[in-house]
Amino acid sequence: MPQIYAVGNQKGGSGKTTTAVNLAAYAALAGRKVLVVDLDPQANCTTHLGVDRELFELTSYDLLVDDAVSLADVLTPSCIDGLMAVPSDEDLGGAEVEMVGEIGRELRLRQALASADDFDLIIIDCPPSLGLLTVNALTAAEALIVPVECEFFALEGVAVLTRNVEIIQERLNPDLKIAAIVPTKFDRRKNLCRDALDYMREFFGKQVTKTVVRTNVSLAEAPTQGEPIALYSPSSHGGEDYRSLAREIFKVRLK
Ligand SMILES: Nc1ncnc2c1ncn2[C@@H]1O[C@H](COP(=O)(O)OP(=O)(O)OP(=O)(O)O)[C@@H](O)[C@H]1O
Ligand SMILES: [Mg+2]
Repeated sequence: MPQIYAVGNQKGGSGKTTTAVNLAAYAALAGRKVLVVDLDPQANCTTHLGVDRELFELTSYDLLVDDAVSLADVLTPSCIDGLMAVPSDEDLGGAEVEMVGEIGRELRLRQALASADDFDLIIIDCPPSLGLLTVNALTAAEALIVPVECEFFALEGVAVLTRNVEIIQERLNPDLKIAAIVPTKFDRRKNLCRDALDYMREFFGKQVTKTVVRTNVSLAEAPTQGEPIALYSPSSHGGEDYRSLAREIFKVRLK
């Protein structure tokens, strides 16, 4: 059975998609069979993975709302061998409303991923909210990766997220763990950034990864080329940091 990770934080722009895509790419380059599920109607993850829009018709929306659609129907290749995607598009925005009245609506993704035996690792990119899409991700996953921007107010959001994780543990998924809190967009020249990182380590202790993802222009450019940093600029700070993060979280062997 694959290991299933959700990458979530209801705060927008915290680095979820960047983290999901780049961790997935390094895990695939280390030889793992990886699936990325784009569960955000913004579809940034789909774009960043270089998924060709000509190659898919069905998306994570269909997987969630249509019983007749199976995982195999929505798998789409990405720009990296060994890395498949379940793409998304703006239609997914309607899924939360459409699923509201349905019994078992929180379990749709978990059920859809039950047939994912061909993969070693599944990474789900969550939208910036704690709505039904994120609840589906947290119910399907065994572990949550939380990217947190190194700024002061970001920490309150993590406390809110942690409480929501406890609710999901009680009601839907007792196995769910917080695997890692990942400091992102770190700029050591800024006092506030350094202070925020210190607070993060103080409050969340060992849950915070040793690897800190620095602010890096290549990481911001890579999505526009539809390439993970591992292809776009592996020797950049962003490349170094996500390679190190993949080693730390997934214990993969990478040079
Ligand atoms: N370490 C970094 N250095 C520089 N730019 C970054 C870094 N991490 C992310 N970015 C940029 O910041 C923006 C937000 O990042 P990203 O899309 O990964 O966040 P997100 O949490 O997925 O956002 P959303 O909540 O909208 O889904 C993007 O333009 C991305 O390229
Ligand atoms: Mg995103």
